[in-house]
Amino acid sequence: MDKKIKNEIVSTVLTFAALLATAVVVAVGGTMLALHTADIVPYIGSIAATAVALFVIYVVFYIYIRYIVGSGEIDSLPFPKLLAIVYFTVSAGVLLSCLSTGFLNSFAMPIACVALTIGILIKIRIGLMSTIITALGSLTVICSAIYVSGGEAVLPEVIFGCLSSTVSGFAMIFLIRRRYSRFKLTWGALIVALIMAPFSALLSLIYTTDASEIVQNAVYSAIGDLISIAIMTASLPMYERICNVWTDFRLEELISLNQPLLKRMSEEAPGTLSHSMALANLAESCAIAIGLNPFMARACAYYHDVGKLKNPQFFVENQTDGYNPHDDLIPEVSANMITRHTKAGAEMLKEMHMPEEIVKAALEHHGTSAVGFFYMKAKYISGDRAKGVDEKEYRYEGPIPSTRYSAVIMLCDICEAMFRAKPPEDFEAMQEAVDKVVAAKIADGQFDNCKLTMRELNTIKQTICSIVPFTMHKRIDYAKAKERR
Ligand SMILES: [Fe+2]
Ligand SMILES: [Fe+2]
Repeated sequence: MDKKIKNEIVSTVLTFAALLATAVVVAVGGTMLALHTADIVPYIGSIAATAVALFVIYVVFYIYIRYIVGSGEIDSLPFPKLLAIVYFTVSAGVLLSCLSTGFLNSFAMPIACVALTIGILIKIRIGLMSTIITALGSLTVICSAIYVSGGEAVLPEVIFGCLSSTVSGFAMIFLIRRRYSRFKLTWGALIVALIMAPFSALLSLIYTTDASEIVQNAVYSAIGDLISIAIMTASLPMYERICNVWTDFRLEELISLNQPLLKRMSEEAPGTLSHSMALANLAESCAIAIGLNPFMARACAYYHDVGKLKNPQFFVENQTDGYNPHDDLIPEVSANMITRHTKAGAEMLKEMHMPEEIVKAALEHHGTSAVGFFYMKAKYISGDRAKGVDEKEYRYEGPIPSTRYSAVIMLCDICEAMFRAKPPEDFEAMQEAVDKVVAAKIADGQFDNCKLTMRELNTIKQTICSIVPFTMHKRIDYAKAKERR
């Protein structure tokens, strides 16, 4: 049997075994919490049935993540780590829902904390599905526990309480789509909690006319949402650090100009920082256009050239006093001084435990392209022996881009430098230049190892052409205007 298939079978069997074990733990723990009793012997049969039902729900969820969402869409997180985060959070959500039903009120189920946590940490689509799975899991455990203990009278409260908490989760997850800051997201969630209270009262009207119960449900619904926000606020930084997940909030901190490495760039290589920031505007727009994370794209752009900090004066953007050290060097040495910045940058970023995408963007943003200027200079100097100049000596070590972020940075980097050196005369000239750059990189095989499609490449080209005119716009010379008057 093929080794790959064998590994696949072993990992699937292990995953299913872990899911079954989790389902058993949640069924036992959930029943104990919902009935608040430690004596589970009388309920052992129903617990076994609940564990099987939970296992089926968990397997359906696994199929959804694996084959419907697809690991390609969530390639920033290793799949086993993703599964561990999702199932731990969902199971904790089910147990907390059982706890609130057993000790508070079913309308206080903190299902929204699962929606918020997974939506922020992983993906909104998986966050939405996790909300449904947590609600189904909670209903399965609580209903079976209540049914076998003879408490059917509270079943409507459990069902409508669970429905209200699920709707809260859905409402809060839409706040994440707006890419708010941590503070604004918390405020938004608080407003949703307040709005959900009257909604819960309306839901209660379906099964009861008891005014005090209706008010109680509304209050508990708000309490449940507040508990969700508190749990999310407290647990998110722990998830980020322990599981090393780079959320938008953490990436936002990384692109603050107060970061030590960016501060160092502003002091030692201001030209490189200015280039990186201009490139970041292009890269961010391209990322949005092709469905990548704009925060990650901006961070990749800010840090892509940090390797130049090793010898900033060798890069033209940092030469302000008219002195160019390359004038005293042979082209081969110059090319070597230039090309080493990719590896140096990646090493610096690795030491600082930066996200893998950022390290890769620093290492791969030139791929295995040639440093054309010094190659041509070497050929020119060699005169009749120009044929003996080996192009390989003037190429970056690579590797070629392995992520879409690295590919976006590669294209935006070239375009930013090209248009900064010579602003395009008109829109057609700019389009032609961008087309040429992309075609040359494709012909050179620079995009052979990343998942960038031709459609995405076209979108990137269009985006660059739509942004460049705004970044290269001319300013009015007020002194001259005054003179003319
Ligand atoms: Fe570079
Ligand atoms: Fe660059």
